[in-house]
Amino acid sequence: MPTKKMTDKEWFHQHLSDRSTKLIPYKSATPKKFNSSTVAWSTLLLLFVTTSISFAQTTVTIPVETEKNAMVLQTDHEGRLGVIYFGSKLANTTEYAGIPSQYNLKSDNAPTYNSCYTPAGTWNLIEPAVQITHADGNMSLDLKYVSSETKKIDANVNLTSVLLKDPLYANEVTLYYKTYYKENVVEQWSVIKNGEKKAIHMQKYASANLYLMGNDFYLTHYNGTWGNEMKPEEDHLSHGIKSIDSKLGTRANLLEPSAFMVSFDKPATEDEGKVLLGQLAWSGNFKLDFEVDNYNNLRVIAGINPYASEYQLAAGQEFTTPGFIYTFSNNGKGEASRNLHHWATKYRLLDGEGSRLTLLNNWEATYFDFDENKLVGLFKGAKKLGVDMFLLDDGWFANKYPRNGDTAGLGDWQENKKKLPHGIGYLVKEATAAGVKFGIWVEPEMVSPKSELYEKHKDWVIREIDRPEKYYRHQLVLDLSNPTVQNFVYGVLDTLFTKNPTLAFIKWDCNAVIYNAHSAYLQKAGLPQSQLYVDYVKGLYKVLDRLRAKYPTVPMMLCSGGGGRVDYGALQFFTEYWPSDNTDPVERIFMQWEYSYFYPAIASCNHITDWSKLPLKFRTDVAMMGKMGYDIVVDKLNEKDLQFSQQAVTNYRSISDLVWHGDLYRLVNPNKNPIASLMFSNTDKSRAIVFNYLVNTRFMPSATPLPVQLKGLDAAKKYTVKEINVYPGTSSSIQPSTVYSGNFLMTVGINPDVHLGRASVLLEVNEVK
Ligand code: DGJ
Repeated sequence: MPTKKMTDKEWFHQHLSDRSTKLIPYKSATPKKFNSSTVAWSTLLLLFVTTSISFAQTTVTIPVETEKNAMVLQTDHEGRLGVIYFGSKLANTTEYAGIPSQYNLKSDNAPTYNSCYTPAGTWNLIEPAVQITHADGNMSLDLKYVSSETKKIDANVNLTSVLLKDPLYANEVTLYYKTYYKENVVEQWSVIKNGEKKAIHMQKYASANLYLMGNDFYLTHYNGTWGNEMKPEEDHLSHGIKSIDSKLGTRANLLEPSAFMVSFDKPATEDEGKVLLGQLAWSGNFKLDFEVDNYNNLRVIAGINPYASEYQLAAGQEFTTPGFIYTFSNNGKGEASRNLHHWATKYRLLDGEGSRLTLLNNWEATYFDFDENKLVGLFKGAKKLGVDMFLLDDGWFANKYPRNGDTAGLGDWQENKKKLPHGIGYLVKEATAAGVKFGIWVEPEMVSPKSELYEKHKDWVIREIDRPEKYYRHQLVLDLSNPTVQNFVYGVLDTLFTKNPTLAFIKWDCNAVIYNAHSAYLQKAGLPQSQLYVDYVKGLYKVLDRLRAKYPTVPMMLCSGGGGRVDYGALQFFTEYWPSDNTDPVERIFMQWEYSYFYPAIASCNHITDWSKLPLKFRTDVAMMGKMGYDIVVDKLNEKDLQFSQQAVTNYRSISDLVWHGDLYRLVNPNKNPIASLMFSNTDKSRAIVFNYLVNTRFMPSATPLPVQLKGLDAAKKYTVKEINVYPGTSSSIQPSTVYSGNFLMTVGINPDVHLGRASVLLEVNEVK
């Protein structure tokens, strides 16, 4: 039921007419009249709330700022909040209030496009950010500005919250903007609160609704499938809506990830132009709407996919949407991506500022065909190579239906007695004796129809009871909306750790999408089936949260049949991700290049495998531009390859700090050139590593006729350039004793001399003191 009927004019006067400022960067006045439940919801415990300023004017202006950028929100003549500016920040913040709000047209028949959170069913006839059905069946929603405040979390991070309220119904939305000042990153989300006496139903509940001003926009988004992840596509956005979404449930990134770029005025370039990089931090169905409006501006609405996901909110309950993460740069996508890297390593990726373990994985070396003795033999190989750890992959478990292929056993997480008669404990002991750590693969969200788990707990499985089952990789997904299933999944990991306290690493896989999205648990609980997609992800995060509370530091790889699940929702629990099962180095150069716009290199697991027959040096050099690992049988390496690999592991150790924590600069784009070139330099610009790869093996008189101009050095410093990872028996054509100025290397450049006989070249740049 409506709480109180008011005309727009009354609302406006009651809530805003006592205001006297044009600029409210901080806490603003709260409405004079609230019913008690509204007051209770809006009570926020603030550590630091800066003071409100009151003037006699009626317009409220709220800048959301980082070091370089600002988004400015402003109320219109009816108290609705819109975005009036998005871009470089002004030197004088008081001038924001003077930005002409030409987007808030006052004429009766003009649509308002710039709402900062567009409600459905009232004045708005364009794509909404939020759409609900009230307890009485009414479907209208209006949101008007009530108050805002900015809380200082620390010297670098602020949290601005803006309270909006429906004048007629007891529903509130609080918009949150968490700003990371130095990194120029914003995380935005909303909290929707139901103050009605009965449940409301939310049909759409986006995290963010941006409004970008410009004349022309280009959208770079990605498509892919297994073994073919992160294929970029750049579209010129025309009028109408371009939507990117996922309905796969679990492996939400498989076909279209939520990571995207929008460039203003012209296609995105590396070092110049206005670029927005964004993604939804959510490991489930998402939807991004890009709408060019009649003023040629761009509306961006990002959130959980409303598809089959109507969500019920009981009386007094609130719903927190996932974070929409974005950064803006005036200096191209290179700077924008470094913003994200700095933010991710400091604030999001687990142990982002720490180190990583090099490893030998047995997946491509053995697939399911191994036993205890074979594995112990591989441990010795890991030691010989010099890596830190051995990672045991799929196939180690299940007895009634042994996991000897991908058609059985998932869910039965007991060691297979035939393959591993002495259990995991024995393997951990043997690995330790061989001088390497031990890690293990799990896929705990899944179940094989041929498993004891399936036989015992069919009600734990997501399936339509009366319809034929549909499998993805011969398996089904467990119902993580069910707390008992959450306990089971947690228990799989907890048991492994409890029995093997020195377990050093987990590879967490997820190979199936959700077909036949039906939950026996939700049915029994009397909850709508349409909550399954959302409650699945919430359930997954609950499990991961609980695991991280008990095991905060164990490194974990996020894997999903390759890169089917890579996002900043999941990466708060994981130290790294598996970009693709495709480890062909040429394919990986392109994929790793694209992933690198959104994720730092420390998180990218790049393994050297036998997938491709290209020279081992080339495969190794490609793996080194991220977190290096191996997936080979070391004993099969010939003498020179072994010698090269041992040296490469040592070299990697000496440059890993640059790759993991340095600044990434992309130098030559493989999409447009026969070579790819990129580099990482450290903060004081005294060291750098430059990776150069040949990507086009068609005949060329010279692959790099021109030098490659480096970036991220100090023009005034002097440097030498030395080639590393030189294959035994060959020599480098790079003169290590030549001294260059940073100015020279960045203006004229250096030719890495890449050609068919030297398909990859790694150059270490060191300051001469
Ligand atoms: C898919 C992963 O991407 C692979 O690396 C491997 O772990 C297999 N699953 C195992 O089944």
